[in-house]
Amino acid sequence: MSGIKAPVAPGPIGIFDSGYGGLTIYREIEELLPQYDYLYLGDNARTPYGTRSFDVVYEFTRQCVKHLFAQGCHLVILACNTASAKALRSIQQVDLPVIDPTRRVLGIIRPTVETIGDVTVSRHVGILATEGTIKSHSYPLEIQKLYPDIVVNGEACPMWVPLVENCEHNSRGADYFVKRHVDNLLSRDPQIDTIILGCTHYPMLIEKIRQFVPAGVRILTQGAAVAASLKDYLARHPEMDALCSKGGGRVFSTTESDNRFREQASRYLEQHIDVEHVILE
Ligand code: DGL
Repeated sequence: MSGIKAPVAPGPIGIFDSGYGGLTIYREIEELLPQYDYLYLGDNARTPYGTRSFDVVYEFTRQCVKHLFAQGCHLVILACNTASAKALRSIQQVDLPVIDPTRRVLGIIRPTVETIGDVTVSRHVGILATEGTIKSHSYPLEIQKLYPDIVVNGEACPMWVPLVENCEHNSRGADYFVKRHVDNLLSRDPQIDTIILGCTHYPMLIEKIRQFVPAGVRILTQGAAVAASLKDYLARHPEMDALCSKGGGRVFSTTESDNRFREQASRYLEQHIDVEHVILE
């Protein structure tokens, strides 16, 4: 055997979510960094993740990350707060050293939290997120590390992801669930001046959320912060940047019906997209 290693082929940047939510992150990433190839995977067949146990979210996320690696991705973004809260650390510390220590998986909670220090004036912040993300306490823990003076309150909104996944987010029926959780959060801490939408599905509900949030309260979405953080990461890691192919290609895949994903994602992205159905091993 010669000691010369075969060159490693660059691959697309993988973007993963339990369903459609990661598209709100993808949209900002591809706008800021259009030159890269992207491979999106939505695990729509098993969404929502937000009400599932730590072990199940970890196992599902691990399967999806392995699938994206098998498709040639060297870098995967967990465009899902629930997966970032419950699976990221184990994947980074337990799985990557075994699967391939040169590959990277990044989450979206830290880049989101980094932005809030300059935004809140009252230093009271609210988090709207899935039950899994709220119960993990990931947001308060990360915020405490960076901004110990900020008071954090969270509210789990278990119905919001099913509303989006079932395309009911603009319906009159959604009003009840949106108002209820916004009211719960703000009555728990009336000093909140900034609300983080800590679930990537929620920007699809933003018009409804705005109806029930008082005008002086700012609503923060994650896409722009995650995109800026990825750009910064790639600039600081030229070895990883070299492994991310730059052909401007976009491939979308889902574990559920490709027709349904094509219809809903094309509407959200305002462009026709092709979608592949995948079966996870
Ligand atoms: N979009 C995801 C998040 O950011 C998860 C939604 C779910 O499947 O419950 O948490």
